[in-house]
Amino acid sequence: MTAVPGGFGPLLPEDRVDAATLVRQGFGIPREYFDRSVELFGPGVMRGLRAGPEAGSAGGLVACAAVWPMDQWFGGRPVPSCGVAAVAVDPAQRGRGYGTALMRGLLEEARAGGAALSVLYPATLPLYTRLGFGRGGVSFDWSAPPAALSAGPPPRDGWIRRTDASDAGQLAALRRSLFTTTNGLVERNEGLWSFALCPDGAPSDVYTLGGSGGLEGYIAVAPPADRKLNVADLCLLSPRAVRLAQGFLGGYRAQVDRVTWRGGPDDPLVLLAAERGVRADACDEWLLRILDLPRALESRGYPPGVAGELTLDVSDALIPENSGCFRLSLSDGKASVRPLPRALNNADKAGGRTGKAVLSLSIAALACLYSGHKGPHVLRQVGLLRGGEEALALASLFFSGPAPWMPDRF
Ligand SMILES: CC(C)(COP(=O)(O)OP(=O)(O)OC[C@H]1O[C@@H](n2cnc3c(N)ncnc32)[C@H](O)[C@@H]1OP(=O)(O)O)[C@@H](O)C(=O)NCCC(=O)NCCS
Repeated sequence: MTAVPGGFGPLLPEDRVDAATLVRQGFGIPREYFDRSVELFGPGVMRGLRAGPEAGSAGGLVACAAVWPMDQWFGGRPVPSCGVAAVAVDPAQRGRGYGTALMRGLLEEARAGGAALSVLYPATLPLYTRLGFGRGGVSFDWSAPPAALSAGPPPRDGWIRRTDASDAGQLAALRRSLFTTTNGLVERNEGLWSFALCPDGAPSDVYTLGGSGGLEGYIAVAPPADRKLNVADLCLLSPRAVRLAQGFLGGYRAQVDRVTWRGGPDDPLVLLAAERGVRADACDEWLLRILDLPRALESRGYPPGVAGELTLDVSDALIPENSGCFRLSLSDGKASVRPLPRALNNADKAGGRTGKAVLSLSIAALACLYSGHKGPHVLRQVGLLRGGEEALALASLFFSGPAPWMPDRF
């Protein structure tokens, strides 16, 4: 990676007020919320960029962001990733390259620290797509009238109990069961748990659901307000847990007009809604950046029983180590990646001399394929990937799986 201009690095304690101002100007976040987030994510979470003399305020903080390590699950295995949030540039200094320089600095740092991926929610696309981020997955805002979820009596073959919201360990253990059956979920640190269970700063009420065999899920709700019930977080691991949650939410039908919750495209409450009226109010896409190509491909899991070899011909303008040809070999749900010593010519890319299936694509398009967000055929259709039928068939198999999503927003 090339050197970052200006002074990139961790924020100093004396930068805190300036950083809070940048974040307030960037996102309208009040000082108390900024301080609370920094405390929850830890003092090392903030990074900053200082201007050089060209900005007329030598040494001043012109940009900041929050970064933290976390595992993100793909194919049933954890991949070391770097979450990025609160990217903000001084409004008086925007459009001068500071946002780009800050991002380059933190991607370089994350890669050096062992992260294979970086993930963020973009407020604007060009900044991030130029840095090699691709579309990674989604986060839906669903809503429904409570009666559309269930108008009948609550099921009698299970129980719902209010529980101590501070026992996140119990909730984390339940949530962990989802990691191996879906794609894109992230392991929450204290900060992400707090965002999930106390979305507006006030704790929600948490209820666990289960049957005679024990716990099967949980649902966290904020107090109803303005005839709306916001489900802050939920995890429903069995058909019974879904029916219990439906009955629980249906019980609010005299109090609220709509229930809102976050989920993925295959949301259980949506799939089993009893009546029409469920709506996707928003669908946010998160972006994924592959920082270390071999590590990212070797860390994720793959469908069992799939084996084969695919040559990836990848271009990455920012991280030269990711550029070039790599042989991806798959067996027993695991991958090994070997860089190929030379660039492919056109005959090789057509699958000729190598005798292997070859896919040519940018690092951003690879992120989209890698997460399972989009398949190789649609990526080829829109010109984001080149390859023959054999290569596309293999890539479809390698990266098949549940559509990637996450409820967490940061
Ligand atoms: C988005 C933001 C971080 C960009 O920082 P910046 O220093 O202005 O960006 P750069 O100068 O490095 O420009 C990179 C690209 O960002 C985009 N960009 C530049 N200024 C921007 C602005 N004011 N608003 C939105 N996007 C902008 C442009 O696409 C630009 O590319 P271009 O110069 O080829 O058109 C900055 O505008 C900002 O702080 N916005 C408010 C908070 C926010 O939206 N943060 C992003 C959260 S994910």
